[in-house]
Amino acid sequence: MKFNPLKEKGLPLEKQVRTWHDIAHRKFNKNEIDCYSRTRQILMNGIEVEAWNFKHNFARVCQEEDTLEFLAQTKRIEDAQQTTINWLAPCDQSVLETTLGYEQVAVDLTAWMAQNEPDPYVKETFDFGLLEDFDHLYRYSQWAYMVHGISPNAIVQGQTDVIIGRPTQHHHNCNIVRLRKPYDRAKAAPQTKVNILTLVSGEQQTHNYYAEHGFAYGNECLRETYAEIKDVEEEHVTMYESLIDPTESFYEKLLLHEFTEVCTYHNCMTDEKCEMLMPIWEEFLAIELNHLQTAAELFKKYEKRDPEEVIGEEVVHPCHFTSQKEYVTEILTEQIDKRLGPDKDYLYIKDLPDDWASYEVQKQVGEDGSPTEMTIRVINEQKEHDIVRASEKLIGEIPKLAKRGLQDKAQAPGTFQPEEYKEMVRDKKD
Ligand SMILES: [Fe+2]
Ligand SMILES: [Fe+2]
Ligand SMILES: [Fe+2]
Ligand SMILES: [Fe+2]
Repeated sequence: MKFNPLKEKGLPLEKQVRTWHDIAHRKFNKNEIDCYSRTRQILMNGIEVEAWNFKHNFARVCQEEDTLEFLAQTKRIEDAQQTTINWLAPCDQSVLETTLGYEQVAVDLTAWMAQNEPDPYVKETFDFGLLEDFDHLYRYSQWAYMVHGISPNAIVQGQTDVIIGRPTQHHHNCNIVRLRKPYDRAKAAPQTKVNILTLVSGEQQTHNYYAEHGFAYGNECLRETYAEIKDVEEEHVTMYESLIDPTESFYEKLLLHEFTEVCTYHNCMTDEKCEMLMPIWEEFLAIELNHLQTAAELFKKYEKRDPEEVIGEEVVHPCHFTSQKEYVTEILTEQIDKRLGPDKDYLYIKDLPDDWASYEVQKQVGEDGSPTEMTIRVINEQKEHDIVRASEKLIGEIPKLAKRGLQDKAQAPGTFQPEEYKEMVRDKKD
């Protein structure tokens, strides 16, 4: 059934203010929650952080009194929504457990979007980023085992494979190389705009989470692993946000932010099975419908344009979470040796120019070694093999994948070599 968010009934602004108890009392059981309820909780926290942050940025350059009033009133609402959602995570869920949840979001969300993305260049960018977060999940899983003694399946519940991706040491780029070509706002589909804004919000929050929690562990190598991966998330924000047309006005952006909130909540509500989360998604969707309709009025008033030109006439679904193992395996086996080209394109390692700007960056940051490579050495020392969760067939491919994924140039000292992976695959008894 068609759901036109400009016509559906929302919750009036005066009913959006909630009590402290309502804001803060709910939390899930980490042993009982479905992994995809957890991914929705993680993603929607990121969406609310972006909504709140964007409104503050808009308020700092806005001169129209009615718009300033709307921003002032709804910033507080977005902020309270964020608290409710973020604090659903129970206090006994460790930083590493939450981290595995964040990377599961990135892998399964990006894979879903890539398959529903109408713009082929944007799709290629999603596929590219996907293999990086996939590798982060593998590296962090080693630490979750070593520090807390848990299998990654305690969090990902067998829905997402845990195995080497494009090696993290090669995710570090010259940030200029990360910049991609923006879509054209007049031609891009609402699905493309919502996909990108959703992903930017998720990546930004992943970065923020590592920035705020990476020092929670005393282990030096783990601390550096957080620092290394956090930097990649910074690059992901740079990469995905560069896909957005820079000529979108603040009013157009406001409209798109509220529309993205509507679409993501609608998607959560459609998919949710958890009885505690369901009423939250329903109520917050009603709140966002009201925000969107006011944003649409402001857009008409100040831009003299029809909001439907920007957002269309129905919701799109950017965040349907489901197991993506098959799709990820396909991209992994085809594209592990793909890199960002110097002309906002994509190249395979063999075609990179000798003066590729990212080589220099990788040499600089990896001069003393790469913590994510050391991670594999440490677990191999402790357990004689790494922690992987994938089909026998894919596990058999690890040495070949490692060989193709690693560059000869700018390889960090101490890098775990394909022959060593071969030994590990042979010894695996887990
Ligand atoms: Fe919100
Ligand atoms: Fe990641
Ligand atoms: Fe990421
Ligand atoms: Fe909103």
